[in-house]
Amino acid sequence: VYEVADPALAAEGAERIAWAEHAMPVLRRVRALFAAERPLAGLRVGACLHVTAETANLAVTLVAGGAEVHLCASNPLSTRDEVAAALAVEHGVAVHAVHGADATAYRRHIGAVADAGPHLVLDNGCDLAVALHTGRPELAEQVLAGCEDTPTGVLRLRAMAAAGALAFGVVALDHTPTRRIVDHRHGTGQSTVDGILRATNILLAGRCVVVAGFGPVGHGIAERARAMGATVVVTEVDPVRALDAVLDGYRVLPMRDAAALGDVIVTATGNRDVVAAEHLDLLRDGVVLANAGHFDVEIDVRALRAAAQEIRRVRPAAEEIRLPDGRRVVLLAEGRIVNLGAAEGNPPAVMDMAFAEQALTTAWLARHHAELAPGVHAVPGNIGAEVARLELAALGVALDSLTGAQRRYLSAWESPTWEGGG
Ligand code: ADE
Repeated sequence: VYEVADPALAAEGAERIAWAEHAMPVLRRVRALFAAERPLAGLRVGACLHVTAETANLAVTLVAGGAEVHLCASNPLSTRDEVAAALAVEHGVAVHAVHGADATAYRRHIGAVADAGPHLVLDNGCDLAVALHTGRPELAEQVLAGCEDTPTGVLRLRAMAAAGALAFGVVALDHTPTRRIVDHRHGTGQSTVDGILRATNILLAGRCVVVAGFGPVGHGIAERARAMGATVVVTEVDPVRALDAVLDGYRVLPMRDAAALGDVIVTATGNRDVVAAEHLDLLRDGVVLANAGHFDVEIDVRALRAAAQEIRRVRPAAEEIRLPDGRRVVLLAEGRIVNLGAAEGNPPAVMDMAFAEQALTTAWLARHHAELAPGVHAVPGNIGAEVARLELAALGVALDSLTGAQRRYLSAWESPTWEGGG
């Protein structure tokens, strides 16, 4: 059973999945391993992820490992209908995802995956875990374990765990070095700028780009915007991150000052109301507003729409909102995550490592779930290092290894740490 926009799109989807696969050598290695060892045999995997060509390669890997995969979207705008069709028709994945699904359909799709009674839950934003706990608590009790992709989802899981409501152990995939460095900074940094450019076709050089939040994503966006000739202003609430931005040479200002400067304002905070009603009077005519965070709460879209005199869709992922005083505000992807709403999300070369890590973590969970108490856990053992090693091997990059003397030196505490000492 599946619910996709048009099964006839399967051949086109297969091309996209194959294109992404070329850039995913590590996941290909994991797939070969899974096909040989079948670590997920007999298990139902429920996944709520962006339904992209990259995710399709993860799903096919899980199927190769013996899993029965049920997949719904973690955002209605990121679903590629042709990919959903190929997964359903050619790979036997129970896909419930349609691009642009309204809130009712979106919830129905998540409900269908929850109803399948997954043994393992793969979440991106925690919507599937929440649907299970609130809608099907008896099935939540039967989940063996899960993993979560996003910082936003991890915050929700920690809140559930603190309230004693979380029924199973979840591995947080968002904090690994692979994710922070590769995925958030290089991946989302690039794909957010890509989304803004595809949505608008503006020139960044000479413009002022305000980046709200200087975590790894904000850092990645800021450095790319600057490299393309923009002047970048950063806003922060965290003193250490603000200092990091200052020492990187960015101007750091409160949003009430930055809002008046930005030709483009991008939010990357994971929090709500970062561009809020109080900032609307300050915005420049023609300002572009985009959100890189997981949920569409960072820009107060409701306040913006309420203040509008006229709203027009001016390009596929851009709406022009005219304010009573004549100023125009250009809102991208309805304030939803712009790299997936207006572009294709992170490139496959980035998702390769993230999804290899996720596939290996899923296999680990299949074997070790009993060791995980309900709550949020770190990625086990050396999966991250293993993925980095496989990636470097795929890139043909060789590393040094420690000599015996070096290893002893690092673990010696009683001997001097300088040559001539004693
Ligand atoms: N998250 C960010 N980019 C993605 C992509 N290309 N596929 C799936 N999830 C993503």
